[in-house]
Amino acid sequence: MSTTTLEPKMETPTMNGTSYASHIKNVTVIGAGTMGNGICHVFAQCGYNVNMMDVSQDAMNRAIATIGKNMDRQIAKQAITEADKEKALSLINTYTSMQDALADADLVVEAATENIDLKLKIFEQLDALAPEKCILATNTSSISITRIASHTKRMHKVIGMHFMNPVPVMKLVEIINGYATDKATTNAIIELSKAIHKVPCVVNDYPGFISNRILMPMINEAILALQEGVADVEDIDTIMKLGMAHPMGPLQLADFIGLDTCFSIMNVLHMGFGNQKYAPATLLANMVQAGFLGVKSGEGFYKHVPGSKELVVSERFAHKKWVP
Ligand SMILES: NC(=O)c1ccc[n+]([C@@H]2O[C@H](COP(=O)([O-])OP(=O)(O)OC[C@H]3O[C@@H](n4cnc5c(N)ncnc54)[C@H](O)[C@@H]3O)[C@@H](O)[C@H]2O)c1
Repeated sequence: MSTTTLEPKMETPTMNGTSYASHIKNVTVIGAGTMGNGICHVFAQCGYNVNMMDVSQDAMNRAIATIGKNMDRQIAKQAITEADKEKALSLINTYTSMQDALADADLVVEAATENIDLKLKIFEQLDALAPEKCILATNTSSISITRIASHTKRMHKVIGMHFMNPVPVMKLVEIINGYATDKATTNAIIELSKAIHKVPCVVNDYPGFISNRILMPMINEAILALQEGVADVEDIDTIMKLGMAHPMGPLQLADFIGLDTCFSIMNVLHMGFGNQKYAPATLLANMVQAGFLGVKSGEGFYKHVPGSKELVVSERFAHKKWVP
């Protein structure tokens, strides 16, 4: 998708003729959950000073432990050394105060809980507290970048930087231009993504961006097929794995992402485009209402036993030719 023809872009100058990316040394990551810890891991491993900020010190303690464990795996695979790990961990500091975490920040990557009111409030605070030069990026999976940017006085410096889970492993960064994001900001984030050994793809700000606009309707279609009794859980996933070379079937993937997250992203697409084709499957809605959310609740389309990698179809869907 072209980023130049569809939407107007305001320009801001680069710094002394050099890209802003080369001036980025200090990165503040807001939120230390699943994504936040991975984002901190990758930036620290690439030599950036990382300020990790969360409202919960416990969450940050867990995040630091997770980063250490994930780096141990990299050491076992000889991807990094023990010294690399120590150096990276020494570059990460933790803060519960946003003001302290933002001192001298060149870039913020916000990865707090996916809740629109929370994100709008966080961006108002970031705008008030972060240095003027600072780019404000969000890792949101589904909230409009333009809407988030509209709660700041630096709309041209607000951008989507959508990492994939698990961050240290997945190569893609989906970069999302808000309506007013300027080229200097986009270029800085493209360069920075390459500097942390990721592959950037730039898209414009429409519901679901590209990744979830294509992935979520596929998952929803798999659930509709199951709901209609076209095939059972195992066969739907096997067809997509063996027939389309997907590493994981859509129903298994839905369990990993969380059925509540899938449901909420389908609602964003449905409302954003006003098109019935994005209506979430009734079975998906029912499972979310009943608390069958996938891995996080222990059961979705599959049963998930902590520590076990065995794929066991949920009892409810276990018999062949499941009919709703
Ligand atoms: N989990 C994924 O697979 C995935 C993939 C891509 C993008 N995302 C996006 O990344 C973001 C984070 O998702 P996650 O899965 O890491 O969530 P998570 O629930 O694992 O972590 C969220 C963290 O945000 C913290 N938080 C809440 N309010 C805060 C505040 N005011 N200030 C600072 N921290 C605060 C929480 O304490 C928690 O530690 C969301 O926007 C989500 O849509 C998630």
